[in-house]
Amino acid sequence: MSVASLPVEPFDLVIFGGTGDLAIRKLLPALYHRYIDGQIRPESRIVGVAREALDDNGYRAQVRAAVEAAVDHVVPATLDSFLTMVGYRPLDARKADGWDDFAAMLGAQPDHVRVFYLSTSPELFVDICERLGGYGLNGDNARVVLEKPIGRDLASANVINDAVGRFFTESQIYRIDHYLGKETVQNLLALRFGNALFEPLWNSAHIDHVQITVAETLGVGRRGSYYDRAGALRDMVQNHILQLLCMVAMEPPASLAPDAVRDEKLKVLRSLRPINDSNAAQFTVRGQYRAGAADGQGVPGYLEELGEKESRTETFVALKAEIGNWRWAGVPFYLRTGKRLPSRVSEIVVTFRALPHSIFDASSGPLLPNRLTVRLQPDEGVKLWLTIKHPGPGGLRLRHVPLDMTFASAFGVQQPDAYERLLLDVVRGNPTLFMRRDEVEAAWKWAGPILEAWEASGDTPKAYTAGTWGPSAAVALIERDGRNWTEDAP
Ligand code: BG6
Repeated sequence: MSVASLPVEPFDLVIFGGTGDLAIRKLLPALYHRYIDGQIRPESRIVGVAREALDDNGYRAQVRAAVEAAVDHVVPATLDSFLTMVGYRPLDARKADGWDDFAAMLGAQPDHVRVFYLSTSPELFVDICERLGGYGLNGDNARVVLEKPIGRDLASANVINDAVGRFFTESQIYRIDHYLGKETVQNLLALRFGNALFEPLWNSAHIDHVQITVAETLGVGRRGSYYDRAGALRDMVQNHILQLLCMVAMEPPASLAPDAVRDEKLKVLRSLRPINDSNAAQFTVRGQYRAGAADGQGVPGYLEELGEKESRTETFVALKAEIGNWRWAGVPFYLRTGKRLPSRVSEIVVTFRALPHSIFDASSGPLLPNRLTVRLQPDEGVKLWLTIKHPGPGGLRLRHVPLDMTFASAFGVQQPDAYERLLLDVVRGNPTLFMRRDEVEAAWKWAGPILEAWEASGDTPKAYTAGTWGPSAAVALIERDGRNWTEDAP
């Protein structure tokens, strides 16, 4: 058995919001995968909590359906044995009913690691933590996982962090950003700090610019009421995309110790140049999709999906970010994310500077800059684009080709879902891939003034047709600087 699949200590995992979308689509299938890999001991318990009046069997039926929907080739016997670990408690964080029983149930296994996963609306975080604290369920063996969004601005994030902090110490709090659990993101650490090759080039002297794209083909679907209050900047940029940017831009940490990594990410966040009402129009573009096509089918626009006549919520954002420090001064980080874009692709593209001088004839073909593409999904992998001679006789013709490390073909392994790793990291007590409070605050300090500038401008997001790469202004944002988005790269 590899180190990666050693079993973790027995645990009790309580999922508040246990019938919600995240639990059903992601958390429970992730736990099932870890179970069949032998990492979860059968004495562990997984307890769904929500307000619905369900019993254990009713919930198990939901979990069974969720696992069958998410996992190919489920073996019925393993699913049956997984379900014996699963139970349900109907609880309302704002009412006392049922909490005595719940506390007694957890108290029956005092030695288990206790994980409370708060996959509810953030307004309930405080009530839940108060209950847990009131019943003394927040002892040293307890951990609390906070799903994003943590607040909707710095002030509300502080309220949540202060309130949760009254019952749990910082080392017990795991602020999850599932992008940090993605295989390729961890591979960035390996690539940058496990190879002598990149580090000497990883700076403004050699890197022209960085692009980070997180594109989705889906619309907001049934999440409209949440999404309309959030928008793309709060939903994706303040957390996932900034975390990716930190992984690219941070200084080498002294070790992988949680605070060593998080200290370096924090420095990056604090070095982001402010975008506010003085420059938001120049450095940001907002869009909102209209009816169009996705995956070959006609799809409605955002407002139709929402069932509203108007909304100023952005479903697309493109930004030019800059990091004001010695390593990165003058290197733009172009960030973009959106719903209903032409393909589902998340990638980081690091483009190196052009050659200072060409020794080749114009007839040899264009000399393109080297590029490192780190693809998170789909087809996870890394490609390093190099120039070589076109093989064979004839004149010297140049070709730009990738050194291709697509992980599935290189290693033949299926990538685990991000939640699989992160859930077990919580049980192991390893917070390296989770956000510390000061990181969340620094991210809000940067994102807040952008939101305020948009609000103050009174502008509405620019329309884009579903199935296109956002408003044309997003193309202009990068073309103004003589560069292009790289979505057409193979
Ligand atoms: C979530 C956002 O955090 O990430 C969603 O709230 C988004 O709006 C999702 O769809 C994207 O995650 P992934 O792993 O599918 O890229």
